Amino acid sequence: MDRWPKDVGIRAIHFVIPSLYVDQTELERYDQVSEGKYTVGLGQKQMGFCTDLEDINSLCLTAVSQLVENNGISYSDIGRLEVGTETIIDKSKSVKSALMKLFEPSGNFWVEGIDTTNACYGGTAALFNALAWIESSAWDGRLAVVVAADIAVYAKGNARPTGGAGAVAMIVGPDAPLVIERGLRGTYMNHAYDFFKPDLTSEYPVVDGKLSIQCYLNALDQCYKSYLNKCETKQNLNAFDSFVFHTPYCKLVQKSLARLYLNDFVNSDKKYEEYPGLEQFTNIALADTYFDRDVEKAFMDRSKDTFERKTKPSLLLASRVGNMYTPSVYGGLASYLVSIPVDELVSKKIGVFSYGSGLASSMYSIKITNNVALPALVENLKKSFDKLERRIQVTPAKFTEVLDIRQKSLHQAPYVPICDKSDLFPGTWYLSNIDEMHRRYYERKES
Ligand code: ACO
Repeated sequence: MDRWPKDVGIRAIHFVIPSLYVDQTELERYDQVSEGKYTVGLGQKQMGFCTDLEDINSLCLTAVSQLVENNGISYSDIGRLEVGTETIIDKSKSVKSALMKLFEPSGNFWVEGIDTTNACYGGTAALFNALAWIESSAWDGRLAVVVAADIAVYAKGNARPTGGAGAVAMIVGPDAPLVIERGLRGTYMNHAYDFFKPDLTSEYPVVDGKLSIQCYLNALDQCYKSYLNKCETKQNLNAFDSFVFHTPYCKLVQKSLARLYLNDFVNSDKKYEEYPGLEQFTNIALADTYFDRDVEKAFMDRSKDTFERKTKPSLLLASRVGNMYTPSVYGGLASYLVSIPVDELVSKKIGVFSYGSGLASSMYSIKITNNVALPALVENLKKSFDKLERRIQVTPAKFTEVLDIRQKSLHQAPYVPICDKSDLFPGTWYLSNIDEMHRRYYERKES
C-alpha cells in the first residue's frame, strides 16, 4: 500500500460573488482621476461589494451550504472544515464555529479545523492544513472542506478601486481531479508592514502601496526559486500550461508573469541563444529591478504571448469582481478552469502563487487528472460564473453610501441592517440582526 492516499487535491469548487457591483470607468469619473487609471492602469473593469446585510459569517454560510447542495454530499461526510479569512468580526469566536450551525441537522459535530489568518494568504494556509490532515495519521477517511472569504474595502483614496468581495468553498480529498503535486512547494515568509489592519474598529487596512508591490514581487521571486529547487530537473515557465496568481489588480498579474519570465532569463545558462535581443540585461540583479521601467517593459513585451495563453484566462473574476483577498488566487484557478473545453483540461499543469501581506507566500502546482468527476467539477463551477451577468450595477455614489453605512454600523449593537434584501441573490445567507450582546443572527433568502 502507498504511504499516502492517491491523488489528494480539490474535488469541487463553489464561488460566491456579491450581487452588487460598480463600474470602474464610472468610478474614475466620480473620483476625478485621469481617464483609464483604474481600467487601463490597474486593469480593472468592475468591483463587487457587499451591503450591511452580509458579513464574513454570512458569506461563508452561503459558500458552504451551496457547495454541499450543488455537489450532493452530506454534512456527515465532512471531517474537517478550515476557514481562511482576514475579515475579523470577533477576536475570539471563529467563523468556523458559526458555520457549525449548518451541521446541526446532520448531528455531525466531530469536525476538526478552525480559522487561519494572514491577509490574503489564509485560504492557502487553510488548504495546506486540509491536505496535511488527509496525509496524516489523524485522517479518518472523510472529506475536508476549505472556505476562503473576505470583504475587501479600502478608505477613500487610491486603494479604494482595488477592493472587492467574495467567498470560495472547496471539497478536498483523495481521488481528486485537481491533484496538488506532492512535494512541489516553495514558501517565503518575512516581516513587513506593507498592508495591515491595526485599527480593530475599522474594516479598512493601513496600506503602503508601493512597498506592498515590492513585497509581492520579491515574494514571487523567492517562491519561484524555492519551487524550482524542489523540481528534479531544471525547469522554467515551459513546465506550466497555466500560471495563476493572487490578484490585487489585474495589471500586477501581467507584471508578475513577466517577472517569472525575467527569473527564467536570469537562471538561463544560454541567454544568448534562448533570449536574443535581451542581451543588455545580462548582468542585472533581480533585487534592483522591482521598479525598473526598462526591465519591466522589455520583459512584459517579450512575455505577452505567454501571458495571453497561460494567465489572461485566469483574470475573469478578478477583473469583474476585484480583489477578494483570500479567495482571489482561487478565483484565478476557477476562471482558468471555465475558460477552456473540459477535455482539453486533462493533463494540464497549473502553477499557483499565493501572497498575503505582512507577509506570507507560497507557490505550488496542480495537475489535472482524467478523473470522471472533472466534468461535474467544471459544470458546477460554471453556475457560479452565470451569476456575473445577473448582478445589479449601482452608481459610484450609491457604492460610496453603502460603504459609509458599513463603516458606521460595524460593531454597533443592537443593530438591524438597513439595506435592501431584494438585491441579494436567491439562496444567500444574510445578517438579520445583532442583539445587545453583539450576538449575530442569520437567515437565508429563499432559493
Ligand atoms: N491611463 C492609463 N494608466 C494610468 C493612468 C491613466 N490615466 N493613470 C495612471 N496609470 C497607471 C500608472 O502609470 C500606474 O502604472 P504602473 O503600475 O505600471 O506604474 C498604474 O496606473 C497605477 O497608477 P499609480 O499612480 O501608480 O496608482 P496609485 O499609486 O494611486 O495606486 C496602488 C495604486 C498603490 C496599487 C493602490 O491602488 C493601492 O495601494 N492598492 C492596495 C494595495 C495593493 O493592492 N497592493 C498589491 C499587493 S498587496 C494586496 O494584495 C493587498
